[in-house]
Amino acid sequence: MRVPVNLSNAFKTEFEPILTDFLLGEGLIPEQESLKSRRYLTRSVAPHVKTLSELFNRTSTPLGEQTDAIDEESYFTEGSNPANRRLAYLVSFMPCNLFRVASVWSELARLGFKWPFSGQEFKAIEFGAGTASGACGILAGEKFAPLGLPDRGSFALIEQSKPALNLGTKWFEKYGTALGQGTFEARPFHRRIELNQPWLPKNAPKFQLFVMSYFLNECALSPQVLAEQFVKTVDRHMEDGGISIIVEPALKLQSRRLLEFRKALLALPEVISGKIPLKLLLPCLGHQACGALAQEDDWCHEEVSWWRPEYLRSLDALVGLDRKTLPFSYLVIQKGAAPLEKALPSLSTDGLRFRLVSPSRPLGQTHEFFICGQDGKRRARWRVPENTEIPNRGDILEQVDHHGDPALTQIEKAKLISF
Ligand SMILES: C[S@@+](CC[C@H](N)C(=O)[O-])C[C@H]1O[C@@H](n2cnc3c(N)ncnc32)[C@H](O)[C@@H]1O
Repeated sequence: MRVPVNLSNAFKTEFEPILTDFLLGEGLIPEQESLKSRRYLTRSVAPHVKTLSELFNRTSTPLGEQTDAIDEESYFTEGSNPANRRLAYLVSFMPCNLFRVASVWSELARLGFKWPFSGQEFKAIEFGAGTASGACGILAGEKFAPLGLPDRGSFALIEQSKPALNLGTKWFEKYGTALGQGTFEARPFHRRIELNQPWLPKNAPKFQLFVMSYFLNECALSPQVLAEQFVKTVDRHMEDGGISIIVEPALKLQSRRLLEFRKALLALPEVISGKIPLKLLLPCLGHQACGALAQEDDWCHEEVSWWRPEYLRSLDALVGLDRKTLPFSYLVIQKGAAPLEKALPSLSTDGLRFRLVSPSRPLGQTHEFFICGQDGKRRARWRVPENTEIPNRGDILEQVDHHGDPALTQIEKAKLISF
């Protein structure tokens, strides 16, 4: 996925001082230079990052296999030093998820999406907010790739871990102020959501935006049950025209569960009949059967590049991670019946449209990649015209003329959507 340069640069130098200041204020690091100290990172942060990483990557089971859900409710509070556990999440995982969510926002901006509630107070909710990475990602997205949010508004943060929620609420305020968006307020709600029931109490208000970042995969319920309750929650608590942004791991099992969730949503009678109108905006640009689910071993993910903060480069080197690029799976779903091209007006209404779902591989004069469109996934080759950028994962090709079958499709003509 391409992101605007000012977004991918925003974490290179400006982010670390904001985070350092916050951590010092919360007493989570002992001194200004802690994040620059290899010794400090090695002793106080790296072991917790390793533990959390094993948990999130599902490699901590005895067989080293991916398990389905994450049972531990308390990974923010356990371990010999819970404060350092939270510190590790804040410095290591929060910025990455923040950037992923901001990137999805920038993809909406790239395709011309305009915030549909001009003149109304902004009302959003993050489910499983943890340290408010998703909500802060929206702030960063709006700062560097604006959709036109009003100047003020609020985020309800729902989270089952009180210490994480407390930190997230304060971090949201700190980060928002640093970005010049201190007029957005966070409202913390400490509760566990039972995902096999409506996700919000009946008397909860309506929101314009739902954000879920690395949340759904922690639950063992089937994608069908999650889809049913999600749709009920959208019906009762989302304004018409509002959107849900769901970001999940790029791991095969978790990514496929998200694709199953998409499939289950589209199969619900109230969605098919339009009684609860839903439109899948991204990444699929439509309601076609999922091209990745067609194969047992396939899944679908995005990847974004950024300039990591300096301390994160050091930390990555210490723990053996390389977060120069960030993979993830995602969905953006709008409540409403208007056509896709109305929501994403930069899309052409002419001809066939595909999204690249793999990197491009140079093959002599041509490039080869996988594309996904209305009729599923295809392996395609294209002799990219001069003065056209080489397409990459996440790019959209429009007005495509092609021949051949899904095993090997030759693209004759196409237009690449660029910034
Ligand atoms: C991996 S963390 C992600 C946090 C944050 N959204 C982010 O992207 O960094 C998942 C969060 O969801 C919370 N969570 C999981 N299931 C929950 C539930 N049923 N109700 C409330 N919170 C839940 C966990 O406590 C945790 O803070």
